[in-house]
Amino acid sequence: MCGIVGAVSIRNVVPILVQGLARLEYRGYDSCGVAVVADGLQRARSTARVAELAEQVRASGLRGSTGIAHTRWATHGAPLVHNAHPHFSHGRGPDAASRVGRVALVHNGIIENHDELRAKLVTRGYVFQSQTDTEVIAHLIDNLYDGDLFEAVKSAVGQLRGAYAIAVFCKDEPHRLVGARAGSPLILGIGKGAQEHFLASDAMALAGVTDQIIYLGEGDLVDVQLGKYWLLDKAHKPLTTAQRPVRTVLAHSGAAELGPYRHYMQKEIFEQPRAIADTLEGITGVAPELFDGTANAARIFREIDSVLILACGTSYYSGCTAKYWLESIAKIPTQVEVASEYRYRDSVPNARTLVVTITQSGETADTLAALRHAQSQGMLYTLTVCNVASSAMVRECELAYITRAGIEIGVASTKAFTAQLAGLFLLTLALAQAKGRLSEADEERHLKAMRHLPTALQAVLALEPQVVAWAQDFAKMENALFLGRGLHYPVALEGALKLKEISYIHAEAYPAGELKHGPLALVTSAMPVVTVAPNDALLEKLKSNMHEVRARGGVLYVLADADSHIESAEGLHVIRMPEHYGALSPLLHVVPLQLLAYHTACARGTDVDKPRNLAKSVTVE
Ligand code: M6R
Repeated sequence: MCGIVGAVSIRNVVPILVQGLARLEYRGYDSCGVAVVADGLQRARSTARVAELAEQVRASGLRGSTGIAHTRWATHGAPLVHNAHPHFSHGRGPDAASRVGRVALVHNGIIENHDELRAKLVTRGYVFQSQTDTEVIAHLIDNLYDGDLFEAVKSAVGQLRGAYAIAVFCKDEPHRLVGARAGSPLILGIGKGAQEHFLASDAMALAGVTDQIIYLGEGDLVDVQLGKYWLLDKAHKPLTTAQRPVRTVLAHSGAAELGPYRHYMQKEIFEQPRAIADTLEGITGVAPELFDGTANAARIFREIDSVLILACGTSYYSGCTAKYWLESIAKIPTQVEVASEYRYRDSVPNARTLVVTITQSGETADTLAALRHAQSQGMLYTLTVCNVASSAMVRECELAYITRAGIEIGVASTKAFTAQLAGLFLLTLALAQAKGRLSEADEERHLKAMRHLPTALQAVLALEPQVVAWAQDFAKMENALFLGRGLHYPVALEGALKLKEISYIHAEAYPAGELKHGPLALVTSAMPVVTVAPNDALLEKLKSNMHEVRARGGVLYVLADADSHIESAEGLHVIRMPEHYGALSPLLHVVPLQLLAYHTACARGTDVDKPRNLAKSVTVE
């Protein structure tokens, strides 16, 4: 989603800003821009890729030692150049000279009261150039400016409702950059020799420039000047280094290299054995300490009587899988809710519930808001399963399990999903243990199976050529159904989501028993039906569902176990999974579905890593 980079230095910062934007490309965007103070405000903006912006900048000779840059993912106003950031304020004088702007601003988030502010600013003579909610902030700061940018920003943010991370400069104070955040992340990067400083929405943007990072807290403001910076909290009290420590963050840009792969998604699918091995590294036994953050997990695990999982998208499906584990292994009543629904729903709070958020990025606005909603209702036992240790989610939860999938760049989540499943399975075992429901023999048996997962994943990845053959058929289709039962229903949901996201084929998933309650009406030879069919307690039921499809001329694509006794035939394509992993089999069965989506999308020629309309990190509501 949107990305911010800003810098104050004694050198030309334009190359740093443009490279920063290139490092943020993986988040998804539809326009980009950069602005500097150089004889007034100067900028370049584009609705093409960052590479095109770099070319524009080179051709125009844009240079400056204070600047800001942005990748925009359109919410208010179409993805057009005049809506791209940075936005400039426009003076209100009667002639062109007095209307030259003095404030430049980039913004992530959404300003909810922008209409109201816009109306007020129009009556004060401001002329709007875009349809964005962002432009009001530039004019508002300009309107409040009285020779001190920090003071103007401080007053302006007090009038904003909604979410924002902003970076602002003013041509009258050319060596100063001001940042503020509420609801959207913003970091301060301390440059080498502390002679230059940076602002960014993501440490990745500063990889190669600095690894010394301060994470701004909710409501913080930062004043960045040549060689110094100053932080205030939301009550405008100065913040100390103890309150906002400098952290060393290793956001290697090398992680963003493709290597031998055609796309990041393909690379990330193939990185799953490593991601799971890294996530499990050093785990010799199940213990509450694996989940410790700022609170004591052992005490919380003993006290809780239920689990509420909050997440979005793929992370929600990992939560749906965990519900089966938590109820069957740990015997703990578990609810899974889509975060964007939960946050607005009247629900019945229970102070003894463990609220578990699941998020790859740790910055998803809906999941953060759902967590805060639960906390505001007195549900204070919170735990996150998250892939980014430095994220807002980890900071705001009492307990955390950090998955070690490594940076995920493809918009379609793959290795983060399987790493989440590994973390959630460990959580299940830890809760079962805390409740006295896990014998030592069972603990050892489950851990042994987990440790073998990387090897099992390699065997599943070796099935790729067979999946490529299926993908040739799927590429010609416009619809697909995915079926699963029990533990494998969430896997079917995830398979359908992957196919939709990157191949733009309409796909839906059903628990197979639901077929005859509606979706069977859709089954024809033009409707491929993917069936996840491990040899579990529900296999015979699933086979009956498959007969229902075959009898209507539907074509089945089945992931079966060696001993499932399902053989390929006309209209029935079978890929045999190497081994059955019992409770852990969702981690393996999802892999061919990821590959199916990937190869189908390749065959259809879509932009696999940056599918249309989607962003990697959904930091707005
Ligand atoms: O970063 P999160 O895990 O919180 O993101 C949640 C969803 O936005 C994300 O899983 C989305 O559905 C992916 N595009 C799925 O591939």
